[in-house]
Amino acid sequence: MSLSERAEEFLDHMKRVGIDLASYREKGLLKYYWLPLAKDARVLADKVVEIVVTEKPQRLVIDTLTPLLKALRAGASREFLHNLVNLVTKPSRITVYALLEVPHGSRTIGYGLEEFIADAIMLLRLDEYRGIVRRTLSIRKARWCPQTRMSYGFEITSRGIVVYREYIGGVKGRFDLSQKHSTGVPELDKMLRGGIPRGAIVVISGPSGVGKSTLALTIIKAELERGGKPLYVTFEESVEQVRYIARTLGIEGEFDIISLSPLGITPSGLYSIAIDRMDTYKPTLVVIDGIGIVLKWYGEETGLNLVRTLAYEAKLRGITTILTSLEDLLSGAGSPSLSTIADVLIGLGFERDNDVIRRVIAVLKARGIVHDTRVREIVFEQDRISIDKYERGASGINKP
Ligand SMILES: Nc1ncnc2c1ncn2[C@@H]1O[C@H](COP(=O)(O)OP(=O)(O)O)[C@@H](O)[C@H]1O
Ligand SMILES: [Mg+2]
Repeated sequence: MSLSERAEEFLDHMKRVGIDLASYREKGLLKYYWLPLAKDARVLADKVVEIVVTEKPQRLVIDTLTPLLKALRAGASREFLHNLVNLVTKPSRITVYALLEVPHGSRTIGYGLEEFIADAIMLLRLDEYRGIVRRTLSIRKARWCPQTRMSYGFEITSRGIVVYREYIGGVKGRFDLSQKHSTGVPELDKMLRGGIPRGAIVVISGPSGVGKSTLALTIIKAELERGGKPLYVTFEESVEQVRYIARTLGIEGEFDIISLSPLGITPSGLYSIAIDRMDTYKPTLVVIDGIGIVLKWYGEETGLNLVRTLAYEAKLRGITTILTSLEDLLSGAGSPSLSTIADVLIGLGFERDNDVIRRVIAVLKARGIVHDTRVREIVFEQDRISIDKYERGASGINKP
């Protein structure tokens, strides 16, 4: 029942957000009543009750009850709610979704609804977050479940409503040691005793310019050569730039790239885009490059929760995840926050050797693997990455 929109208008609006109700209506599974406010509100109130009595639906949505309750005098609105709920919907076991507007500046709805009638209250809020609109859903009350007062960001997308639930529960999903991805660098594969386990969360950490993106793209290249389907999510570069660099690295196959910026979007917005891409593109491996800006912009806690949630969502889907992070773990300065979610942790760093800067690499952690623990030198060459013993005073690998 709608007190505001005609059926056609409503069905059209819903279709735009990926909710196609017209077919249900054609099949007779959904009935729609448009009930504009009458001169005498009591006539409308009686009509609402009468329709419910004759239709006996399983579920009833009233969108919105506010104008009717406002138009009825205090006593009459209480009587209406009592008739509707206690005499009709409760005895007939009809689930009622009553939509109401929260008065401006108020945190309650009134009409005794919260206390006496509702078994559950879901509060939807719209507010501003750094210049953008943020939607929040909080569960204020749910009689059948003790733990309430939870808040979630949510997005209205063209594929329906996406609720962003930060990953706070136990870790689900697992990696598979019997199946490995090559990193595209034979020596690194050896250090990892065969490559990256399928479904693992890999963190490549090191300061800017050390080669994280290049290594990540090399992993993408190897994944394409294996016949896998990689996805590259970047917070640092444009799609064109990633494509261009991929070509200079000799990557021929096509792979999906999304470039995102946290600046114009909420954490739940980023979440919904990333999850949607995982579910529609169905990658075998996802690189999430440059999470530094996410942590900076949203703040350490919110940013880390988002990254962690995305990594766990990928793991649940059996997708291997490569995250790149700015922590300089080899110099011992990194915070362990992201390292704890890593199944495989690879540190890259700079070493100053007299008047040259050289790059080093080490596997710091690889769950379930007795990995190489040596710090090695890594050299980025035009068409390959080589890793060898680090020898102070030697001026690079394979060079005189
Ligand atoms: N094709 C290449 N040939 C030689 N060096 C390269 C090549 N690609 C990248 N590099 C080296 O890698 C460095 C930057 O790597 P990048 O992966 O963008 O770093 P990060 O992502 O860690 O900031 C460059 O400064 C360059 O020295
Ligand atoms: Mg980079």
